[in-house]
Amino acid sequence: MIWLQVLGLLLILVLLTFLVEEFFNLIFKGYAPLVSSRSKVLDEAVQQFISLDLPAGAKVYELGCGRAGFLRHLEKTIEDKEKYKLVGIELLFSVYLLAKLQLFLVGSKIKIIRKNFLKMSLKDVDCFYCYLNGPMMARLSLKLKKEAKPGAILISNQFELPGYEPIEEIRLGLTNCLRIYKL
Ligand SMILES: C[S@@+](CC[C@H](N)C(=O)[O-])C[C@H]1O[C@@H](n2cnc3c(N)ncnc32)[C@H](O)[C@@H]1O
Repeated sequence: MIWLQVLGLLLILVLLTFLVEEFFNLIFKGYAPLVSSRSKVLDEAVQQFISLDLPAGAKVYELGCGRAGFLRHLEKTIEDKEKYKLVGIELLFSVYLLAKLQLFLVGSKIKIIRKNFLKMSLKDVDCFYCYLNGPMMARLSLKLKKEAKPGAILISNQFELPGYEPIEEIRLGLTNCLRIYKL
């Protein structure tokens, strides 16, 4: 039963890492916490993405992917699983590890990168999905103004992207809203 104890210890370690990272990022950096997009929001976001009819090979990034809810929904929905380059960016090591493990277990082609998306190039991305918070959207907006590919699409769950007008706003019930931007 030694392996059970090792597994238990590992789980506790990952949980502790998550709590420390989340506390630090929330309190000192103002980054968005881990809250997953609701299923009905993801369904609508995927339908909106499909209606864009992006060409094969398009790069799709989920910024602050958590467990990569949007990308997983998308991969499940499309017939040709390799049509798009699906990439999730996640800052927290513990969450990144969990997402990688889940994707590995289902044989997914989604790639997860552990990085701060504010500190990486977002230049040649065709479509973004994000569920962040107000301050992060403001910082993301400044970055996108400088380097986003003209005409790239950003689908935001809930939060506005300052400095841009949405081309579409979709209300989902009383509390949820998807905003679509052309950059
Ligand atoms: C509200 S959750 C959304 C998770 C997922 N995208 C979804 O819709 O279910 C926000 C995620 O973004 C991550 N995050 C926040 N700021 C980040 C940054 N600058 N770079 C990478 N990930 C970030 C957080 O760790 C968290 O997992």
